[in-house]
Amino acid sequence: MFVPLLQKIWRVVDDRTGIAEAVGPILQHPVPADARWAYVFGSATLAAFIVQVVTGIALATTYVSSAGDAYDSLNFITNNAPFGSLMRGMHFYGASAMVVLVGIHAAQTFLHGSYKFPREANWLSGVLLLFLTLGMGFTGQLLRWDQNAVWSVVVGAEQAARAPLIGEKAAQFVLAGETIGGATLSRFFAFHVFFIPGLIFGIVGFHLFLVIRNGISEMPRAGRPVHPATYRQWYHELLAKEGVPFWPDAAWRDVIFGASVVVIIFVLALVIGPPALDKPPDPSIIEAYPRPDWYLLWYFAVLALIPPAWENWIILLAPLLGALLLFAIPFLSNHGERAPERRPWAVGAVLFVIVMIGALWVAGEQAHWSPDFHPDPLPAAVVGATSGPVATGAELFHKKGCQNCHRVASYGGRRGPDLTAVGRRLDVAQLTTRILNGGTNMPAFAGVLQPAEVEDLVAFLQSRQ
Ligand code: HEC
Repeated sequence: MFVPLLQKIWRVVDDRTGIAEAVGPILQHPVPADARWAYVFGSATLAAFIVQVVTGIALATTYVSSAGDAYDSLNFITNNAPFGSLMRGMHFYGASAMVVLVGIHAAQTFLHGSYKFPREANWLSGVLLLFLTLGMGFTGQLLRWDQNAVWSVVVGAEQAARAPLIGEKAAQFVLAGETIGGATLSRFFAFHVFFIPGLIFGIVGFHLFLVIRNGISEMPRAGRPVHPATYRQWYHELLAKEGVPFWPDAAWRDVIFGASVVVIIFVLALVIGPPALDKPPDPSIIEAYPRPDWYLLWYFAVLALIPPAWENWIILLAPLLGALLLFAIPFLSNHGERAPERRPWAVGAVLFVIVMIGALWVAGEQAHWSPDFHPDPLPAAVVGATSGPVATGAELFHKKGCQNCHRVASYGGRRGPDLTAVGRRLDVAQLTTRILNGGTNMPAFAGVLQPAEVEDLVAFLQSRQ
């Protein structure tokens, strides 16, 4: 009785909407029989994206995107809201999954030469999606609005500002003003929930349309090059001869792999939970570990490790060249061999990128460029005074985070110059200017420190002879 009822409902719905007619051919369209497990990464990326949409909407129902409330609302989501911790966790691991999967998908289609005729537009729209995914990661991080998130963006913006020609404008655009604040958060929120996802939806639709239109590429085989003039006809004959229907013959692998990805995201969120929130942002304490989530860390490492003289150009040119190169790939060669064993340069390029990103990632984890966030306070023996401006200055030097970046007598971080004997190098006026104005990779402290605090700090630094 129940089943006939369902069948009847389905018949009515199908009759009025034509759904079977629209979807049937897509599910049934023939695909190459040898398209096996190598091809599951695209659909798995889509699965991770859907996780992001669902958990993102859930988070947005409670998140408040104002500088005064964002941190508290996330704290509430993490600790009090029903399923809040699970949603935050899934959104976090979902983001990582999406970055990893989109990277593997790009590497796989590149290695298999799937970007060649007639699938050039598939590749180009895919490159756009790769960058939009990274953009989601970058904008999403700031919404956490804790020390770490805020300082990551400050560091990023300071670095962007040093790029020639457009640097200043780019930094102002990212920050929505001269400094980070409520306007920055609004801008990142709008990009993260409206603008970039809107673009992703549109381009994913186009990307999938192209997958159907051009067909899934057959497994590459050495000695079977692509000839644009004859490829389409050859491909259709191949499908007619040995194609299998997409559903269920090929798609079950996508379903299993995609579902496993979702389950892994779910389990990680449940067992490990979302990353702990850092302290709320306070511009007078530079206690954060200003480094981005792992998938952007390697790029921060690039910026921190290159010689200062090149820095300004590399900041601008490296991402631009990288993007141009990716976009240029199908224009450089859209025919010929697809098999990796006949394209050693392609294999080498992928290995090179993997090794480079891996090495930079390790460097980013370890390098001195990141401040030391728990330096021991300077002992009285090093300070040489227990009261008066010098002692107060030494205390401020620790409390205000100067010591995170600066060493004095082997206490402190190594992000900035060692200040053990700075009193010999710089006079009162120079020290004051440097503290108030900051410098390359040093934040400006004007407006953050009281005049009396600056005087004490200078007194302490002057005593370092
Ligand atoms: C985020 C890291 C960081 C923090 C925090 C920081 N600095 Fe710096 N500081 C630097 C860097 C990097 C330089 C070198 C800048 C340059 O050459 O333009 C520098 C330069 C200086 C110099 C000039 C040193 C020289 O030999 O020329 C002084 C003095 C100084 N900082 C004092 C301070 C004081 C005081 C504080 C705390 C109120 C502080 N810094 C906080 C990174 C930092």
